[in-house]
Amino acid sequence: MISADSVRDLRVSRPREYLMCPPERFAVAYSINPWMDPAAPVDTDRALAQWTGLRDLLVELGHTVYTLAPLPELPDMVFAANGAFSVDGTVFGARFRYPQRTAEAGAHERWYTASGWRYVPAAHVNEGEGDFAYVPAAHGGVVLAGYGYRTEPPAHAEAQEVFGRPVVSLRLTDPRFYHLDTALAAISDDNVAYYPDAFSPASRRVLAELFPDAVLADEADALAFGLNLVSDNKHVVLPAEAAGMAAKLGAAGYAPIPVDLGELKKGGGSVKCCIAELRA
Ligand code: ARG
Repeated sequence: MISADSVRDLRVSRPREYLMCPPERFAVAYSINPWMDPAAPVDTDRALAQWTGLRDLLVELGHTVYTLAPLPELPDMVFAANGAFSVDGTVFGARFRYPQRTAEAGAHERWYTASGWRYVPAAHVNEGEGDFAYVPAAHGGVVLAGYGYRTEPPAHAEAQEVFGRPVVSLRLTDPRFYHLDTALAAISDDNVAYYPDAFSPASRRVLAELFPDAVLADEADALAFGLNLVSDNKHVVLPAEAAGMAAKLGAAGYAPIPVDLGELKKGGGSVKCCIAELRA
């Protein structure tokens, strides 16, 4: 039998391009998910220090990180994953569910357009990579799409028309895991990790069929935001609290790297929420 260590040595990371937005204006000023408590104090300097650590780590791993300037009155803008979803050089714009975040979509649109991306605005509510994931080497390149709390199902069909890639709709059923990226993550070019109980029984069956070798998380892993991770096919950056998830990924041959993003968890997000992947 091949050991996890030797699989890890064989895994090759692929350099990525990411977009992030510093939490200079981060606050929990309203509550639009069960994690947000406007009465709990938030330390913005600490959030910024944690975010900077994450950005520096990605750069050290050989990735390119672009920065989106934060705008006033948009305290959730640090969660850059929600602003768009890109595949094959095309960017499908976000359309936020809640009015508090609506204006973020325009900031992302301006950034992508100025950076030369083909940008397609959305007609239906969708929160970008919060509810869309891409697995490039599975089933010829498949998009996984969540709904139930934020993104609306018609946006899934819209994304399929935009990308010409199959989009698999998955129904989220636990309000604590309100975005797909709190319940599922692409961990390699052809595999995912997920928490089955965050999905409807039918969606669970679909995931089991599509990804028989998936790494399965339990409730404790998901509550620690252990699925809100970013992988480069080898290194998996995830919140430090998610020690159980790190162990599972290590046993599956990945190299987990824990980071502390405790302040940002007060907004209901962690590693993945802060990072939009740019897929040229
Ligand atoms: N406070 C933000 C919201 O509820 C958190 C977004 C987290 N982002 C994510 N990709 N899950 O919209």
